[in-house]
Amino acid sequence: MKVLGGVDIGGTKCAVVLGRTSESGVELLDKIRFPTPASPGETLDLCVRHLESLVVRAGVDRLEAVGISCGGPLDSQKGLICSPPNLPAWDRVDVCTPFADRFHAPVGLQNDANACALAEWKWGAGRGTRNMVFLTFGTGMGAGLILDGRLYSGSNDMAGEVGHLRLEQEGPIGYGKLGSFEGFCSGGGIARLARAYAQERLASGEQVAFCKTLADLDDITAEKVGLAAQAGDEDARRVWEVVGRQLGRGLALVVDILNPERIVIGSIYARQQQLLEPIAMGELQREALATSLAVCSVVPSELGERVGDFASLSVAMYALER
Ligand code: BGC
Ligand code: NA
Repeated sequence: MKVLGGVDIGGTKCAVVLGRTSESGVELLDKIRFPTPASPGETLDLCVRHLESLVVRAGVDRLEAVGISCGGPLDSQKGLICSPPNLPAWDRVDVCTPFADRFHAPVGLQNDANACALAEWKWGAGRGTRNMVFLTFGTGMGAGLILDGRLYSGSNDMAGEVGHLRLEQEGPIGYGKLGSFEGFCSGGGIARLARAYAQERLASGEQVAFCKTLADLDDITAEKVGLAAQAGDEDARRVWEVVGRQLGRGLALVVDILNPERIVIGSIYARQQQLLEPIAMGELQREALATSLAVCSVVPSELGERVGDFASLSVAMYALER
């Protein structure tokens, strides 16, 4: 049994976790979440100290490895975070050394989507596959690729940046591009889509159940539109239909290019599967090659809301294995 540390660095929140390998996989022991401080230095300091306190609390004497997960771009070889959109101040910041110095153990860094792919592959919905793709579908849209039984991260850690693919000439902005996969299929993108829908309807004198007046536009979130749709609101359902169709198109690109045997989708898909699945699968059937589809299943994340915790721990395992 090995005790591992995991660190998840996000634009608004960070999480440090402690895990222990077991016969069946890995067991989460403890976790601390906190808002991401303004500066990289302060953030790393806090992550190291919180991880230290988890180690003390668990009464273990050392960590076997530490894994760090973060949105791209990053340099996994050198352990640098390279100004990702949600952490613009992190310009080629060495995030591994502070942990290596303190815990005297191997430290790995991976793109968050790659980390989730490793976790679902080892311990979740991707178990037993040789070719699988994980789609984050949360704050952002990114893919982690397991190809031929190993993580494929590309020439400079940029493989799987599917959020940047343009699906339509027009549409909500995501990843700096109108009508991109992340524009349609991310928390912010869905909110922007719903706002545009509500604004148009309200401006032409029609009513929208999930947004009564133009003054309420700013309060629209993906979560609220999801709740409204689940409660049967037709306007909200129309928004999710667009999202589902674009998800299907994005999935078709992934299927046609990579011929995976499984695609595992996180966060928003896992929460809104009932709304999204029928529409997305219909579009996928129409768009992708049947011979590829015949071997591919699309499923929600099995690790669910905890996938981020297992993701950073899987990066620690990955650092050990290499
Ligand atoms: C980033 C990816 C990341 C994804 C999920 C995207 O905006 O470009 O690197 O994996 O969000 O967080
Ligand atoms: Na990736």
